[in-house]
Amino acid sequence: MKLAPCLAGCVLTLLGTLWMPRAHAAETAQPQGWRDGAALAELVDTNPDPRIVEVTLDAREAEVTIGPGQRVRAWTYNGTVPGPLIRARVGDRLIVHFTNHLDTNTTVHWHGVRVPNAMDGVPEHTQPAVANGRGFTYDFELPDAGLFWYHPHVLSAAQVGFGLYGALLVEDPNDQVQVTDEAVLVLSDMSVDDGVLESPTSGGDLAATFGREGTRVLVNGRTDATFTVRDGAPQRWRVVNAAKSRYFLLDLEGEPFLLLGGDGGLQERAERRDSLVIAPGERLDVIVAPRRPVDGAPVVLRSGLFDRGFGSTEFRRVEELLTLRFAPTAAYAAPLPSPPGRRIEPLDLTGATQVRLDLTFSNADGLNRYGVNGVAFAEDLMLTAHVGETQVWTVTNQTKWSHPFHLHGFFFQVLDAAGAPVRPLAWKDTVDVPFGQTVRLAVRFDNRPGMWMYHCHILDHADLGLMGMLAVRPRD
Ligand code: C2O
Ligand code: CU
Repeated sequence: MKLAPCLAGCVLTLLGTLWMPRAHAAETAQPQGWRDGAALAELVDTNPDPRIVEVTLDAREAEVTIGPGQRVRAWTYNGTVPGPLIRARVGDRLIVHFTNHLDTNTTVHWHGVRVPNAMDGVPEHTQPAVANGRGFTYDFELPDAGLFWYHPHVLSAAQVGFGLYGALLVEDPNDQVQVTDEAVLVLSDMSVDDGVLESPTSGGDLAATFGREGTRVLVNGRTDATFTVRDGAPQRWRVVNAAKSRYFLLDLEGEPFLLLGGDGGLQERAERRDSLVIAPGERLDVIVAPRRPVDGAPVVLRSGLFDRGFGSTEFRRVEELLTLRFAPTAAYAAPLPSPPGRRIEPLDLTGATQVRLDLTFSNADGLNRYGVNGVAFAEDLMLTAHVGETQVWTVTNQTKWSHPFHLHGFFFQVLDAAGAPVRPLAWKDTVDVPFGQTVRLAVRFDNRPGMWMYHCHILDHADLGLMGMLAVRPRD
């Protein structure tokens, strides 16, 4: 009884394979529904103008399923974790009608997007916090292609940890990458105990000093994320780390990653990597083309142990993120594509203003505090810049834990030990500053004056003081 449909299915699959014209574009195609085991909800554009994406977003509590039999009442955008994917093209205008149905204030920050200051979602500085039952319309252009993401900027460690984050994919129809099978992977974690979210303050100051990692690791909101893929066929993954503290050390059982770019879109040229680290807030753009092992077993994307300071490898385990099962289709034989990359100019650093930022830790009166140049929340330490100015920031991590350093509103180039931009050139908005090390970055302030934030994207660290403000002033 059960044999017949299976046989019929296999014969059909076989026929399909035989009939597929060779060297036709469809030959690279992944099987129908290949991403269904880790699907992302997507927002519907309600605006008929092809250059405007207009969507409705709300924040609310909802019960979500994160795995087989694992339901949890989370904080969500539009009822899902992650929130729905927003898809647009570079140059589009994005209009988001946002409503807050949470019992507490919130905002939406558009991580990495070069928005006008008033659209940056930072309460007290760029907009009033959105109270329960109130709304705010975010309306801005998308000047850069790449994967961006959105999350609250009110009590971020708690709100992001509870499930409030989503991806914004800005596509460039002319990017020449030529891999049509694409997936967005939102990596995150959640602290769940018996179907209930753990308190964001569990473990007290000590846990915050390390940065709380969730007990369940999620890919697109699932503990059991699965793709069904064709042996050897290329897939393009856009990956964002939306976890509030966890770094991911990605490994695909030795299958190579072709790294195309990251935070600010494509980098100068692609690079082959055997593993990849993605810190909280960062993005990756990669091509993978895993081969089916001889025994036909799935290939698993794992996160290995990454040392971001004491406690990060000692009490942790390797996590399984995404299972790639192989469809019974013939193997795809072509080599990995080699996309051409993108022209990026190194920033001209002659006459650049030098700025020193020491990331510090203190324990006065038994309170653990992170700070910038010894000052928690960098109060009275406002950085300033002028429109058109280029600055070099020397960020030294004097603490025992690594900090993914994030600047709002502007991309930067990371500099090497000799002070030259690191090759291949790339635009970034978040960079890991490993414990005990120094990272230098160069940033040029384009014409978007206002109050911009910088902070550690381990959100517990930001809450313990690792944040500050930068005033970008108009040219006089
Ligand atoms: Cu994702 Cu203030 O940042
Ligand atoms: Cu930090």
